[in-house]
Amino acid sequence: MERLQNLREEAQQGGGAKRIEAQHAKGKLTARERIELLFDPGSFEELGQMVTHRSTLFGLENQRYLGDGVVTGYGRIEGRTVYAYAQDFTVLGGSLAEAHAEKICRILDLAVQNGCPVIGLNDSGGARIQEGVVSLGGYADIFYRNTRASGVIPQLSLILGPCAGGAVYSPALTDFIGMVEGSSYMFVTGPNVVKTVTHEEVSSEDLGGASAHATKSGVTHFTYANERAAIEGYKNLLRYLPQNCEDGVPNLDYTPSDEARPRLDTIIPASAQQPYDMCEVIEDLVDAESFFEVHAAFAENIVVGFARLAGRSIGVVANQPAYLAGVLDIHASTKAGRFVRFCDAFNIPLLVLEDVPGFLPGTDQEWNGIITHGAKLLYAFAEATVPRITVITRKAYGGAYDVMNSKHIGADMNYAWPTAEIAVMGAKGAAEIIFKKDILEASNPAAMWAEKEAEYAEAFAHPYRAAARGYVDEVIAPHQTREKLIRAFAMLENKVAHNPKRKHGNIPL
Ligand code: HXC
Repeated sequence: MERLQNLREEAQQGGGAKRIEAQHAKGKLTARERIELLFDPGSFEELGQMVTHRSTLFGLENQRYLGDGVVTGYGRIEGRTVYAYAQDFTVLGGSLAEAHAEKICRILDLAVQNGCPVIGLNDSGGARIQEGVVSLGGYADIFYRNTRASGVIPQLSLILGPCAGGAVYSPALTDFIGMVEGSSYMFVTGPNVVKTVTHEEVSSEDLGGASAHATKSGVTHFTYANERAAIEGYKNLLRYLPQNCEDGVPNLDYTPSDEARPRLDTIIPASAQQPYDMCEVIEDLVDAESFFEVHAAFAENIVVGFARLAGRSIGVVANQPAYLAGVLDIHASTKAGRFVRFCDAFNIPLLVLEDVPGFLPGTDQEWNGIITHGAKLLYAFAEATVPRITVITRKAYGGAYDVMNSKHIGADMNYAWPTAEIAVMGAKGAAEIIFKKDILEASNPAAMWAEKEAEYAEAFAHPYRAAARGYVDEVIAPHQTREKLIRAFAMLENKVAHNPKRKHGNIPL
């Protein structure tokens, strides 16, 4: 018993008091403190606490760290079983070696076998340099499992320190990444290598800090002011997710009340050129304070996030007219496409709010592949088999009409507000193209253009042609929308749909 007690105490010490102090001095918590905060009190069961490293080269022969720099195990988060690993930076910089990797692999294997989410708390200097290729093999073993677990269980990553080199690819293979401002970094090659190779001088923060990845690269979905906020944020995220791909979505008790939302009747401005904030529409439609935005600082022209409707988790994808007029571009397409695929993989019904003037034109977009990237979103919607409903609030122009969850690509229901304009393009541009000759030859070209614009608008700047074809199921007043959605999602609750049998599709990557 005494020996057991001593070993447990040794494991608790991590890399020792000095290194723990240094970790705290950087405003960081230790691996064990993070685990403590993440799980319900007393529920965490540690596995592999006495595992030690195997390499004895480069000074490691005289060192012994129980646990090999990673705390792994399972426990309960708000009553649900979740697996987790937390890298311990106080032990050899949290570097990943053979035994360390095996412990993470075991957690991933157990999480998949038992159908539970897994959370990785990353804080590591990367492959343990003293172990050479064995460390690289360990990473690949993890990548392989992350990939096989993709779409089977939710995989969540928090970056709570450095994450360099190939180490970034395990988080990248998971479903969501969160970073902490000022203490998390992710890069394939750090500032020193960047300087040597490209002569660029850049700080760690600018190259791979939370803000850079939240706004520029889109690598991180969430940023937090500190680690406690990050862990609380992830607990909240879990509330929207099922345990695994065969589980139903979380469903809170809901008492029906007055579902009319009169404020929505006044939200669309009189002029089609004037923006409005789609987040206000979302907030009004979903259960109070349930909207949980994902990727908020990236590609702000599209809004994605989880919410609850009558107590049930849904995923929301919405064009944002308040940013770049809600246009679809490369970043918006990849952001929304990935979110749609996550929701589809985990049975989370999709609500799409559409106000989109089309795809963003220009050489930048064309040369960087808007065709391929836009097709990702199209593909993601078209293959999704979860219940999906679209509400067209205003513009549904051009290819974007098709892409944004139209009935043609499998949406179950499509509603439109009376302000909807469903056409190949806006009336002004359309008139200029098809009446070019009449306008040029007119004695008053401006008046002729305005006349033709009005003619086109009369014909197409409304939802009734689409409704006449059945492309729109119903034109509804905005204030009715919440009630319509509650009923329609309830009607679709037992939807069963399958894609054709195949090995897998070939999404345009
Ligand atoms: C072994 C490491 C280590 C590593 C850090 N340490 N990284 N030990 N292998 N990869 C040790 C340090 O020697 C030190 O030990 C302790 O951890 C803390 O490190 P410091 O440098 O003192 O901390 P800090 O100043 O905060 O800097 C942290 C750091 C830096 C930015 C992570 O340590 C660093 O740059 N490390 C190397 C990063 C790297 O190049 N990794 C390999 C990437 S390639 P002592 O005993 O002094 O406390 C890779 C390939 C994966 O990962 C491929 C997969 C496909």
